[in-house]
Amino acid sequence: MDIIEYLRREKKIVDEALDRLVPAADRPPVRLNQAIRHSLIDGGKRLRPILLLAAAQAVGSKKEPLLPFACAMECIHTYSLIHDDLPAMDDDDLRRGRPTCHKQFDEATAILAGDGLLTLAFELAARPIQGVPAKDSLAMVVQLAQDAGIHGMVGGQMMDMEAEEREVELAELQYIHIHKTGALIRSSCMAGACLGGGDATQINKIKRYGEAIGLAFQIADDVLDIVGDSELMGKTIGKDQQQSKATYPALMGVGQARDEANNLVNEALSCLKDFSDDAEPLRALARYITDRTH
Ligand code: IPE
Ligand code: IPE
Ligand code: MG
Ligand code: MG
Ligand code: MG
Repeated sequence: MDIIEYLRREKKIVDEALDRLVPAADRPPVRLNQAIRHSLIDGGKRLRPILLLAAAQAVGSKKEPLLPFACAMECIHTYSLIHDDLPAMDDDDLRRGRPTCHKQFDEATAILAGDGLLTLAFELAARPIQGVPAKDSLAMVVQLAQDAGIHGMVGGQMMDMEAEEREVELAELQYIHIHKTGALIRSSCMAGACLGGGDATQINKIKRYGEAIGLAFQIADDVLDIVGDSELMGKTIGKDQQQSKATYPALMGVGQARDEANNLVNEALSCLKDFSDDAEPLRALARYITDRTH
């Protein structure tokens, strides 16, 4: 399948849903809604919502009813980027090809835009979903809270900050990456499988798939911070080394980091071997994780 064409189509579906579900820019508080839309609308690859929809497809489900939950994933991800870019964290000026939220607006507005997106995400995730039992829906909201929170992404970001300027061994680095980035990616995959009505075996396999590509995704991001093109990526590259971040290439070099990521993608693909052709998008997405240039 043509992954680039698939991504373009799916991104359009997600972008239209986000535009519908997020407050209009002229609605008060106008500055807050403008800041949210500045960071959220149009930009980004939409990988997490697309993974959710692809996982649902892999278990034979329709995508449409899951769009609000898929958008919740993107809201949480975008909030994490807004806060990640703040001067107190990675201090970045460029995101998704635009000035970062605090550069375009100001720090207080960027903090509140992140807070607003995080809260909106739970409003969207908690919406009743046609054809999905309320108990499954609720279980995925709880899972999302855990994966986005203290023992997931937020915790991972804390460890990432603490690891700056310090020697970090592979096991600890893996732990940081699994939490700061892997948790939300795995959560997206699992939510698609569960809300899509997959059975326990399917959900477990898609969970393992998500774990593997989640770690691979952050390794690839670390590699792209060295070899990537700033204009294509829409963010400043070379920052990890500048800020003495703990990364895979810093620890083992670009070549070995790439090998690690490729091994994880193969592991992810092996989790899908009993799935039908409905899992083709999920397979193509796994390969895309390490093939991507942005
Ligand atoms: C960037 O995520 C931050 C990481 C977790 C590595 P993406 O590469 O998915 O960023 P967008 O959503 O496409 O902008
Ligand atoms: C960010 O990792 C992970 C998040 C949870 C936001 P990075 O700090 O490497 O992401 P980029 O490179 O700024 O996109
Ligand atoms: Mg960071
Ligand atoms: Mg960053
Ligand atoms: Mg990075």
